[in-house]
Amino acid sequence: MSETRKLYVKSFGCQMNVYDSRRMADVMAPSGFAETDGPEGADLVILNTCHIREKAAEKIYSEIGRLRVLKQEAAAAGRNVTIAVAGCVAQAEGQEIVRRAPAVDIVVGSQNYHRLPEMVARAKGGAKIVDTDFPVEDRFDALPTPKRETIRSRGIAAFVTVQEGCDKFCTFCVVPYTRGAEVSRPVEKIADEVMRLADGGVREITLIGQNVNAYHGEGKDGREWPFGKLMHRLAEIPGIARIRYTTSHPNDMEDSLIAAHRDLPALMPFLHLPVQSGNDRVLEAMNRRHTRADYFAVIERLRGARPDIALSSDFIVGFPGETEAEFRDTLSLIEEVGFASAYSFMYSPRPGTPAAEMDGQIAEPEKSERLQRLQAIVNRQQKAFNAAAVGHTLNVLLERPGRHPGQIVGKTPYMQAVQVMAPAELIGSVLPVTITDVGTFSLFGALAQHGATPSLATLGA
Ligand code: SAH
Ligand code: SF4
Ligand code: F3S
Repeated sequence: MSETRKLYVKSFGCQMNVYDSRRMADVMAPSGFAETDGPEGADLVILNTCHIREKAAEKIYSEIGRLRVLKQEAAAAGRNVTIAVAGCVAQAEGQEIVRRAPAVDIVVGSQNYHRLPEMVARAKGGAKIVDTDFPVEDRFDALPTPKRETIRSRGIAAFVTVQEGCDKFCTFCVVPYTRGAEVSRPVEKIADEVMRLADGGVREITLIGQNVNAYHGEGKDGREWPFGKLMHRLAEIPGIARIRYTTSHPNDMEDSLIAAHRDLPALMPFLHLPVQSGNDRVLEAMNRRHTRADYFAVIERLRGARPDIALSSDFIVGFPGETEAEFRDTLSLIEEVGFASAYSFMYSPRPGTPAAEMDGQIAEPEKSERLQRLQAIVNRQQKAFNAAAVGHTLNVLLERPGRHPGQIVGKTPYMQAVQVMAPAELIGSVLPVTITDVGTFSLFGALAQHGATPSLATLGA
Protein backbone atom coordinates (compact mmCIF):
# COMPACT_ATOMS: atom_id res chain seq x y z
CA MET A 1 0.00 0.00 0.00
CA SER A 2 1.07 3.58 -0.65
CA GLU A 3 2.24 5.87 2.15
CA THR A 4 -0.22 6.95 4.83
CA ARG A 5 -2.21 10.07 4.13
CA LYS A 6 -4.05 12.11 6.69
CA LEU A 7 -7.78 12.54 6.93
CA TYR A 8 -9.55 15.11 9.07
CA VAL A 9 -13.31 14.81 9.48
CA LYS A 10 -15.16 17.61 11.22
CA SER A 11 -18.61 16.67 12.36
CA PHE A 12 -21.55 19.00 12.94
CA GLY A 13 -25.11 18.24 14.02
CA CYS A 14 -26.73 15.08 15.29
CA GLN A 15 -25.47 11.60 16.19
CA MET A 16 -26.25 10.47 12.69
CA ASN A 17 -23.43 12.72 11.50
CA VAL A 18 -21.04 11.63 14.25
CA TYR A 19 -21.66 8.07 13.17
CA ASP A 20 -21.40 8.85 9.45
CA SER A 21 -18.05 10.55 10.10
CA ARG A 22 -16.74 7.29 11.48
CA ARG A 23 -18.14 5.41 8.52
CA MET A 24 -16.32 7.81 6.20
CA ALA A 25 -13.07 7.23 8.07
CA ASP A 26 -13.69 3.49 7.70
CA VAL A 27 -14.26 3.65 3.94
CA MET A 28 -11.14 5.77 3.46
CA ALA A 29 -8.86 3.59 5.61
CA PRO A 30 -8.22 0.95 2.91
CA SER A 31 -6.94 3.76 0.62
CA GLY A 32 -4.27 4.54 3.19
CA PHE A 33 -5.98 7.39 5.06
CA ALA A 34 -5.42 7.65 8.80
CA GLU A 35 -7.45 10.04 10.91
CA THR A 36 -5.91 13.13 12.42
CA ASP A 37 -7.47 15.57 14.85
CA GLY A 38 -7.04 18.88 13.06
CA PRO A 39 -7.07 20.29 9.52
CA GLU A 40 -3.37 21.28 9.56
CA GLY A 41 -1.34 18.78 7.59
CA ALA A 42 -4.40 16.82 6.45
CA ASP A 43 -4.51 15.59 2.85
CA LEU A 44 -8.26 15.17 2.89
CA VAL A 45 -10.61 17.35 4.93
CA ILE A 46 -14.27 16.39 5.16
CA LEU A 47 -16.82 18.78 6.64
CA ASN A 48 -19.78 16.66 7.69
CA THR A 49 -22.39 19.36 7.86
CA CYS A 50 -25.70 19.96 9.58
CA HIS A 51 -28.52 22.00 8.09
CA ILE A 52 -30.79 22.27 11.08
CA ARG A 53 -29.89 25.78 12.19
CA GLU A 54 -30.53 28.97 10.33
CA LYS A 55 -27.43 30.25 8.52
CA ALA A 56 -25.96 26.72 8.69
CA ALA A 57 -24.83 27.02 5.09
CA GLU A 58 -23.24 30.44 5.71
CA LYS A 59 -21.20 29.01 8.56
CA ILE A 60 -19.97 26.22 6.33
CA TYR A 61 -18.90 28.74 3.69
CA SER A 62 -16.80 30.63 6.23
CA GLU A 63 -15.32 27.33 7.43
CA ILE A 64 -14.41 26.55 3.80
CA GLY A 65 -12.81 30.01 3.55
CA ARG A 66 -10.39 29.07 6.33
CA LEU A 67 -9.63 25.73 4.69
CA ARG A 68 -8.97 27.45 1.36
CA VAL A 69 -6.05 29.26 2.98
CA LEU A 70 -4.62 25.96 4.23
CA LYS A 71 -5.10 24.46 0.79
CA GLN A 72 -3.24 27.34 -0.88
CA GLU A 73 -0.37 27.14 1.59
CA ALA A 74 -0.08 23.39 1.03
CA ALA A 75 -0.17 23.88 -2.76
CA ALA A 76 2.71 26.37 -2.48
CA ALA A 77 4.65 23.65 -0.68
CA GLY A 78 3.77 21.15 -3.41
CA ARG A 79 1.18 19.25 -1.42
CA ASN A 80 -2.36 18.58 -2.57
CA VAL A 81 -5.29 19.01 -0.15
CA THR A 82 -8.74 17.69 -1.07
CA ILE A 83 -11.75 19.36 0.51
CA ALA A 84 -15.05 17.51 0.71
CA VAL A 85 -18.39 18.73 2.01
CA ALA A 86 -20.68 15.95 3.22
CA GLY A 87 -23.87 15.72 5.25
CA CYS A 88 -27.04 17.72 5.20
CA VAL A 89 -25.79 21.03 3.77
CA ALA A 90 -24.21 19.04 0.93
CA GLN A 91 -27.51 17.26 0.38
CA ALA A 92 -29.46 20.52 0.38
CA GLU A 93 -27.09 22.79 -1.58
CA GLY A 94 -25.42 20.30 -3.94
CA GLN A 95 -23.84 21.94 -7.00
CA GLU A 96 -24.24 25.40 -5.46
CA ILE A 97 -21.36 24.65 -3.08
CA VAL A 98 -18.71 24.15 -5.77
CA ARG A 99 -20.06 27.18 -7.60
CA ARG A 100 -19.75 29.42 -4.56
CA ALA A 101 -16.63 27.85 -3.08
CA PRO A 102 -14.22 26.69 -5.79
CA ALA A 103 -11.83 25.38 -3.11
CA VAL A 104 -14.27 22.50 -2.58
CA ASP A 105 -13.45 19.39 -4.62
CA ILE A 106 -16.21 17.04 -3.55
CA VAL A 107 -19.83 17.45 -2.48
CA VAL A 108 -21.20 14.16 -1.23
CA GLY A 109 -24.72 13.42 0.00
CA SER A 110 -25.39 11.25 2.99
CA GLN A 111 -26.37 8.20 0.92
CA ASN A 112 -23.18 8.06 -1.11
CA TYR A 113 -20.32 7.82 1.35
CA HIS A 114 -19.33 4.37 0.09
CA ARG A 115 -18.27 6.03 -3.17
CA LEU A 116 -15.85 8.40 -1.43
CA PRO A 117 -12.58 6.58 -2.25
CA GLU A 118 -13.34 6.71 -5.94
CA MET A 119 -14.39 10.38 -5.68
CA VAL A 120 -11.18 11.29 -3.88
CA ALA A 121 -9.10 9.57 -6.58
CA ARG A 122 -10.97 11.45 -9.32
CA ALA A 123 -10.68 14.77 -7.45
CA LYS A 124 -6.91 14.35 -7.36
CA GLY A 125 -6.98 14.47 -11.15
CA GLY A 126 -8.64 17.89 -10.89
CA ALA A 127 -12.29 16.92 -11.30
CA LYS A 128 -15.10 18.56 -9.28
CA ILE A 129 -17.50 15.94 -7.99
CA VAL A 130 -21.06 16.44 -6.84
CA ASP A 131 -22.88 13.28 -5.84
CA THR A 132 -26.02 13.85 -3.82
CA ASP A 133 -28.64 11.52 -5.31
CA PHE A 134 -30.53 9.03 -3.18
CA PRO A 135 -29.80 5.52 -4.44
CA VAL A 136 -32.76 3.18 -4.17
CA GLU A 137 -30.88 -0.05 -3.55
CA ASP A 138 -29.98 -0.98 0.04
CA ARG A 139 -27.78 1.96 0.87
CA PHE A 140 -26.32 0.23 3.89
CA ASP A 141 -25.11 -2.74 1.83
CA ALA A 142 -22.55 -0.94 -0.24
CA LEU A 143 -20.31 -0.16 2.73
CA PRO A 144 -17.26 -2.36 3.14
CA THR A 145 -16.87 -4.48 6.24
CA PRO A 146 -14.97 -2.41 8.79
CA LYS A 147 -11.49 -3.72 9.45
CA ARG A 148 -10.80 -5.12 12.88
CA GLU A 149 -8.21 -2.46 13.67
CA THR A 150 -10.59 0.39 12.88
CA ILE A 151 -13.20 -1.21 15.11
CA ARG A 152 -10.67 -1.52 17.89
CA SER A 153 -9.79 2.12 17.69
CA ARG A 154 -13.44 2.96 18.30
CA GLY A 155 -13.13 1.97 21.90
CA ILE A 156 -15.79 0.60 24.17
CA ALA A 157 -18.94 2.33 22.98
CA ALA A 158 -20.04 2.37 19.34
CA PHE A 159 -22.93 3.63 17.24
CA VAL A 160 -24.81 1.34 14.87
CA THR A 161 -27.28 2.66 12.29
CA VAL A 162 -30.49 0.64 12.23
CA GLN A 163 -32.67 2.93 10.17
CA GLU A 164 -32.36 6.17 8.28
CA GLY A 165 -34.68 8.89 7.14
CA CYS A 166 -38.03 10.00 8.37
CA ASP A 167 -41.59 10.03 7.04
CA LYS A 168 -43.09 12.15 9.80
CA PHE A 169 -42.80 15.64 8.28
CA CYS A 170 -42.95 17.71 11.44
CA THR A 171 -43.64 21.17 10.06
CA PHE A 172 -40.39 22.71 11.44
CA CYS A 173 -37.98 19.98 10.35
CA VAL A 174 -35.73 19.49 7.32
CA VAL A 175 -34.81 15.88 7.99
CA PRO A 176 -37.47 14.27 5.74
CA TYR A 177 -36.15 16.44 2.89
CA THR A 178 -32.44 16.08 3.62
CA ARG A 179 -32.36 12.45 4.72
CA GLY A 180 -35.17 11.04 2.62
CA ALA A 181 -37.80 8.40 3.34
CA GLU A 182 -37.60 6.02 6.27
CA VAL A 183 -35.62 2.82 5.53
CA SER A 184 -34.86 0.05 8.05
CA ARG A 185 -31.85 -2.22 7.84
CA PRO A 186 -32.42 -6.01 7.93
CA VAL A 187 -32.03 -7.63 11.37
CA GLU A 188 -29.18 -9.98 10.47
CA LYS A 189 -27.12 -7.21 8.86
CA ILE A 190 -27.32 -5.29 12.10
CA ALA A 191 -26.58 -8.40 14.18
CA ASP A 192 -23.48 -9.13 12.04
CA GLU A 193 -22.17 -5.63 12.56
CA VAL A 194 -22.79 -5.82 16.31
CA MET A 195 -21.02 -9.20 16.48
CA ARG A 196 -17.99 -7.74 14.75
CA LEU A 197 -17.99 -4.76 17.09
CA ALA A 198 -18.27 -7.03 20.14
CA ASP A 199 -15.41 -9.07 18.73
CA GLY A 200 -13.35 -5.89 18.55
CA GLY A 201 -13.95 -5.07 22.22
CA VAL A 202 -17.07 -2.90 22.03
CA ARG A 203 -19.30 -3.35 25.11
CA GLU A 204 -21.96 -0.72 24.54
CA ILE A 205 -23.91 -0.09 21.36
CA THR A 206 -26.19 2.83 20.63
CA LEU A 207 -28.65 2.05 17.87
CA ILE A 208 -29.20 5.19 15.89
CA GLY A 209 -31.52 6.60 13.30
CA GLN A 210 -33.53 9.75 12.82
CA ASN A 211 -36.55 7.88 14.02
CA VAL A 212 -35.08 4.78 15.46
CA ASN A 213 -38.16 3.29 17.05
CA ALA A 214 -40.03 3.41 13.76
CA TYR A 215 -37.75 0.45 12.96
CA HIS A 216 -39.41 -2.33 10.97
CA GLY A 217 -36.53 -4.22 9.35
CA GLU A 218 -36.75 -7.68 7.83
CA GLY A 219 -36.04 -10.56 10.22
CA LYS A 220 -34.61 -14.00 9.42
CA ASP A 221 -38.17 -15.28 9.02
CA GLY A 222 -38.79 -12.80 6.19
CA ARG A 223 -41.22 -10.79 8.31
CA GLU A 224 -40.95 -7.24 9.52
CA TRP A 225 -39.59 -7.09 13.04
CA PRO A 226 -40.54 -4.36 15.44
CA PHE A 227 -37.80 -2.57 17.33
CA GLY A 228 -38.32 -4.49 20.59
CA LYS A 229 -37.75 -7.80 18.79
CA LEU A 230 -34.51 -6.47 17.30
CA MET A 231 -33.40 -5.58 20.85
CA HIS A 232 -33.92 -9.19 21.95
CA ARG A 233 -31.79 -10.44 19.06
CA LEU A 234 -28.95 -8.00 19.83
CA ALA A 235 -29.05 -8.58 23.59
CA GLU A 236 -28.11 -12.24 22.89
CA ILE A 237 -24.78 -11.27 21.35
CA PRO A 238 -21.93 -12.21 23.71
CA GLY A 239 -19.87 -9.27 24.93
CA ILE A 240 -22.60 -6.66 24.51
CA ALA A 241 -23.29 -5.38 28.02
CA ARG A 242 -25.32 -2.31 27.17
CA ILE A 243 -27.76 -1.23 24.51
CA ARG A 244 -29.10 2.28 23.98
CA TYR A 245 -31.02 3.89 21.14
CA THR A 246 -31.71 7.37 19.86
CA THR A 247 -33.72 9.27 18.62
CA SER A 248 -37.24 8.08 19.24
CA HIS A 249 -40.66 9.47 18.44
CA PRO A 250 -43.35 9.19 21.15
CA ASN A 251 -45.84 7.71 18.65
CA ASP A 252 -43.58 4.76 17.88
CA MET A 253 -43.11 3.47 21.44
CA GLU A 254 -44.72 0.15 20.53
CA ASP A 255 -45.47 -2.64 23.04
CA SER A 256 -42.51 -4.89 22.14
CA LEU A 257 -40.16 -2.01 22.89
CA ILE A 258 -41.76 -1.23 26.24
CA ALA A 259 -41.58 -4.96 27.06
CA ALA A 260 -37.89 -5.00 26.10
CA HIS A 261 -37.31 -2.27 28.70
CA ARG A 262 -38.91 -4.59 31.25
CA ASP A 263 -37.20 -7.82 30.16
CA LEU A 264 -33.71 -6.95 28.97
CA PRO A 265 -31.20 -5.88 31.61
CA ALA A 266 -28.83 -4.78 28.82
CA LEU A 267 -31.30 -2.18 27.62
CA MET A 268 -30.27 0.86 29.60
CA PRO A 269 -32.85 2.78 31.65
CA PHE A 270 -32.32 6.08 29.88
CA LEU A 271 -34.43 7.33 27.01
CA HIS A 272 -34.22 10.41 24.83
CA LEU A 273 -37.83 11.01 23.83
CA PRO A 274 -38.33 14.42 22.21
CA VAL A 275 -41.70 16.05 22.81
CA GLN A 276 -40.94 19.58 21.46
CA SER A 277 -43.91 21.25 23.18
CA GLY A 278 -46.36 20.68 26.04
CA ASN A 279 -49.26 22.40 24.35
CA ASP A 280 -51.79 20.57 22.19
CA ARG A 281 -52.42 23.37 19.71
CA VAL A 282 -48.69 23.82 19.14
CA LEU A 283 -48.15 20.07 18.89
CA GLU A 284 -50.81 19.95 16.22
CA ALA A 285 -49.32 22.89 14.32
CA MET A 286 -45.99 21.06 14.49
CA ASN A 287 -47.69 17.98 12.99
CA ARG A 288 -46.37 15.85 15.85
CA ARG A 289 -49.60 13.82 15.74
CA HIS A 290 -49.85 13.26 19.45
CA THR A 291 -51.16 15.25 22.41
CA ARG A 292 -49.66 16.19 25.74
CA ALA A 293 -51.79 13.47 27.36
CA ASP A 294 -50.44 10.89 24.87
CA TYR A 295 -46.89 11.80 25.91
CA PHE A 296 -47.72 11.35 29.59
CA ALA A 297 -49.33 7.99 28.77
CA VAL A 298 -46.13 6.80 27.03
CA ILE A 299 -44.05 7.84 30.03
CA GLU A 300 -46.40 5.98 32.33
CA ARG A 301 -46.06 2.79 30.27
CA LEU A 302 -42.28 3.15 30.31
CA ARG A 303 -42.15 3.72 34.04
CA GLY A 304 -44.47 0.76 34.55
CA ALA A 305 -41.97 -1.44 32.71
CA ARG A 306 -38.81 0.12 34.10
CA PRO A 307 -39.47 2.23 37.21
CA ASP A 308 -35.96 3.70 37.33
CA ILE A 309 -36.00 4.93 33.72
CA ALA A 310 -34.53 8.42 33.31
CA LEU A 311 -35.72 10.66 30.50
CA SER A 312 -34.40 13.37 28.29
CA SER A 313 -36.10 15.37 25.56
CA ASP A 314 -35.87 18.05 22.92
CA PHE A 315 -37.89 21.27 23.18
CA ILE A 316 -38.55 24.04 20.70
CA VAL A 317 -39.54 27.44 22.07
CA GLY A 318 -41.15 30.21 20.03
CA PHE A 319 -42.75 28.05 17.37
CA PRO A 320 -44.83 30.37 15.10
CA GLY A 321 -47.92 31.55 16.98
CA GLU A 322 -46.83 30.16 20.35
CA THR A 323 -48.45 32.33 23.05
CA GLU A 324 -47.06 32.87 26.53
CA ALA A 325 -49.76 30.58 27.93
CA GLU A 326 -48.90 27.86 25.40
CA PHE A 327 -45.24 28.19 26.25
CA ARG A 328 -46.10 27.78 29.93
CA ASP A 329 -47.68 24.44 29.07
CA THR A 330 -44.23 23.29 27.98
CA LEU A 331 -42.78 24.43 31.30
CA SER A 332 -45.48 22.59 33.22
CA LEU A 333 -44.87 19.43 31.19
CA ILE A 334 -41.19 19.61 32.15
CA GLU A 335 -42.11 20.06 35.81
CA GLU A 336 -44.52 17.16 35.67
CA VAL A 337 -42.24 14.66 33.91
CA GLY A 338 -38.89 15.55 35.49
CA PHE A 339 -35.98 15.17 33.04
CA ALA A 340 -32.43 14.01 33.63
CA SER A 341 -31.28 16.25 30.77
CA ALA A 342 -32.71 18.02 27.75
CA TYR A 343 -31.83 19.88 24.59
CA SER A 344 -33.76 23.05 23.91
CA PHE A 345 -33.81 25.24 20.84
CA MET A 346 -35.28 28.53 19.72
CA TYR A 347 -37.48 27.86 16.72
CA SER A 348 -35.49 28.65 13.62
CA PRO A 349 -37.28 28.81 10.25
CA ARG A 350 -35.90 26.28 7.78
CA PRO A 351 -36.52 27.28 4.16
CA GLY A 352 -38.87 24.87 2.45
CA THR A 353 -40.61 23.67 5.61
CA PRO A 354 -44.29 24.57 6.24
CA ALA A 355 -43.61 26.31 9.58
CA ALA A 356 -41.25 28.78 7.92
CA GLU A 357 -44.28 30.13 5.99
CA MET A 358 -46.63 30.28 8.99
CA ASP A 359 -48.03 33.51 10.41
CA GLY A 360 -47.05 34.65 13.88
CA GLN A 361 -43.26 34.25 13.64
CA ILE A 362 -41.92 35.22 17.05
CA ALA A 363 -39.28 37.88 17.59
CA GLU A 364 -35.80 36.74 18.61
CA PRO A 365 -35.70 38.49 22.03
CA GLU A 366 -38.95 36.79 22.99
CA LYS A 367 -37.67 33.38 21.90
CA SER A 368 -34.45 33.94 23.74
CA GLU A 369 -36.27 34.95 26.93
CA ARG A 370 -38.43 31.80 26.75
CA LEU A 371 -35.39 29.65 26.12
CA GLN A 372 -33.67 30.99 29.22
CA ARG A 373 -36.72 30.32 31.38
CA LEU A 374 -37.02 26.81 30.06
CA GLN A 375 -33.33 26.08 30.47
CA ALA A 376 -33.37 27.30 34.06
CA ILE A 377 -35.91 24.59 34.89
CA VAL A 378 -34.13 21.89 32.94
CA ASN A 379 -30.78 22.79 34.53
CA ARG A 380 -32.29 22.63 38.00
CA GLN A 381 -33.73 19.19 37.22
CA GLN A 382 -30.46 17.96 35.77
CA LYS A 383 -28.53 19.12 38.82
CA ALA A 384 -31.02 17.48 41.17
CA PHE A 385 -30.86 14.27 39.17
CA ASN A 386 -27.07 14.16 39.34
CA ALA A 387 -26.98 15.13 43.00
CA ALA A 388 -29.39 12.29 43.78
CA ALA A 389 -26.74 9.83 42.61
CA VAL A 390 -24.32 10.79 45.38
CA GLY A 391 -24.08 8.04 47.96
CA HIS A 392 -25.52 5.45 45.57
CA THR A 393 -23.56 2.64 44.02
CA LEU A 394 -24.16 2.44 40.28
CA ASN A 395 -22.92 0.06 37.63
CA VAL A 396 -20.40 1.99 35.57
CA LEU A 397 -18.98 0.97 32.20
CA LEU A 398 -15.36 2.07 32.24
CA GLU A 399 -14.69 3.56 28.80
CA ARG A 400 -11.43 5.46 28.42
CA PRO A 401 -8.63 7.28 30.24
CA GLY A 402 -9.90 10.29 32.17
CA ARG A 403 -8.77 13.86 32.64
CA HIS A 404 -6.03 13.14 35.16
CA PRO A 405 -3.45 10.35 35.34
CA GLY A 406 -4.89 7.24 36.95
CA GLN A 407 -8.46 8.32 36.21
CA ILE A 408 -10.86 6.47 33.97
CA VAL A 409 -14.09 7.91 32.59
CA GLY A 410 -17.08 5.68 32.66
CA LYS A 411 -20.82 6.00 32.21
CA THR A 412 -23.67 5.20 34.57
CA PRO A 413 -26.78 3.50 33.18
CA TYR A 414 -28.30 7.00 33.11
CA MET A 415 -25.68 8.45 30.72
CA GLN A 416 -23.83 10.35 33.43
CA ALA A 417 -20.06 10.54 32.97
CA VAL A 418 -18.12 9.41 36.04
CA GLN A 419 -14.44 9.93 36.82
CA VAL A 420 -13.05 6.96 38.75
CA MET A 421 -9.53 6.18 39.95
CA ALA A 422 -8.87 2.73 38.50
CA PRO A 423 -6.17 0.82 36.64
CA ALA A 424 -6.32 1.07 32.84
CA GLU A 425 -6.76 -2.73 32.52
CA LEU A 426 -10.29 -2.29 33.82
CA ILE A 427 -11.36 -0.32 30.73
CA GLY A 428 -14.20 -2.30 29.17
CA SER A 429 -15.56 -3.65 32.45
CA VAL A 430 -18.86 -2.81 34.07
CA LEU A 431 -18.20 -2.35 37.78
CA PRO A 432 -20.10 -1.01 40.76
CA VAL A 433 -18.95 2.51 41.58
CA THR A 434 -20.01 4.51 44.63
CA ILE A 435 -20.72 8.08 43.63
CA THR A 436 -18.94 10.46 45.96
CA ASP A 437 -19.32 13.88 44.40
CA VAL A 438 -20.85 15.91 41.55
CA GLY A 439 -18.80 18.19 39.30
CA THR A 440 -19.90 20.46 36.46
CA PHE A 441 -19.45 17.95 33.65
CA SER A 442 -19.23 14.65 35.46
CA LEU A 443 -19.70 12.71 38.65
CA PHE A 444 -16.86 11.41 40.77
CA GLY A 445 -16.82 7.94 42.22
CA ALA A 446 -14.78 5.16 43.75
CA LEU A 447 -14.78 1.47 42.86
CA ALA A 448 -17.12 -0.25 45.30
CA GLN A 449 -16.61 -3.47 47.22
CA HIS A 450 -20.24 -4.45 46.88
CA GLY A 451 -22.77 -4.55 44.07
CA ALA A 452 -24.93 -1.71 42.79
CA THR A 453 -27.85 -0.35 44.78
CA PRO A 454 -30.70 -2.76 43.90
CA SER A 455 -33.44 -0.23 43.31
CA LEU A 456 -32.62 3.08 41.77
CA ALA A 457 -36.22 4.19 41.38
CA THR A 458 -35.45 7.11 43.67
CA LEU A 459 -32.95 8.44 41.15
CA GLY A 460 -35.63 9.09 38.57
CA ALA A 461 -37.66 11.09 41.07
N1 SAH B 1 -35.94 12.83 14.94
C1 SAH B 1 -35.90 13.53 16.14
C2 SAH B 1 -35.09 14.80 16.12
C3 SAH B 1 -34.54 15.34 14.87
S1 SAH B 1 -33.85 16.96 14.86
C4 SAH B 1 -37.30 13.77 16.61
O1 SAH B 1 -38.24 13.44 15.96
O2 SAH B 1 -37.51 14.32 17.65
C5 SAH B 1 -33.22 17.22 16.48
C6 SAH B 1 -33.94 18.32 17.21
O3 SAH B 1 -33.67 19.57 16.64
C7 SAH B 1 -35.45 18.21 17.21
O4 SAH B 1 -35.93 17.32 18.17
C8 SAH B 1 -35.88 19.62 17.48
O5 SAH B 1 -36.04 19.86 18.85
C9 SAH B 1 -34.74 20.46 16.93
N2 SAH B 1 -35.14 21.13 15.70
C10 SAH B 1 -35.42 20.58 14.50
N3 SAH B 1 -35.78 21.52 13.61
C11 SAH B 1 -35.74 22.69 14.26
C12 SAH B 1 -36.02 24.03 13.89
N4 SAH B 1 -36.44 24.35 12.67
N5 SAH B 1 -35.86 25.00 14.83
C13 SAH B 1 -35.45 24.69 16.07
N6 SAH B 1 -35.17 23.45 16.48
C14 SAH B 1 -35.32 22.46 15.59
FE1 SF4 C 1 -37.83 15.77 12.02
FE2 SF4 C 1 -40.16 15.17 13.08
FE3 SF4 C 1 -38.86 13.37 11.63
FE4 SF4 C 1 -37.94 14.03 14.01
S1 SF4 C 1 -39.90 13.02 13.58
S2 SF4 C 1 -36.76 13.82 12.13
S3 SF4 C 1 -38.44 16.18 14.13
S4 SF4 C 1 -39.73 15.26 10.88
FE1 F3S D 1 -28.42 18.24 11.27
FE2 F3S D 1 -28.68 16.64 9.29
FE3 F3S D 1 -28.65 15.70 11.71
S1 F3S D 1 -29.61 18.61 9.45
S2 F3S D 1 -29.46 17.30 12.94
S3 F3S D 1 -27.02 16.68 10.70
S4 F3S D 1 -29.88 14.95 10.05
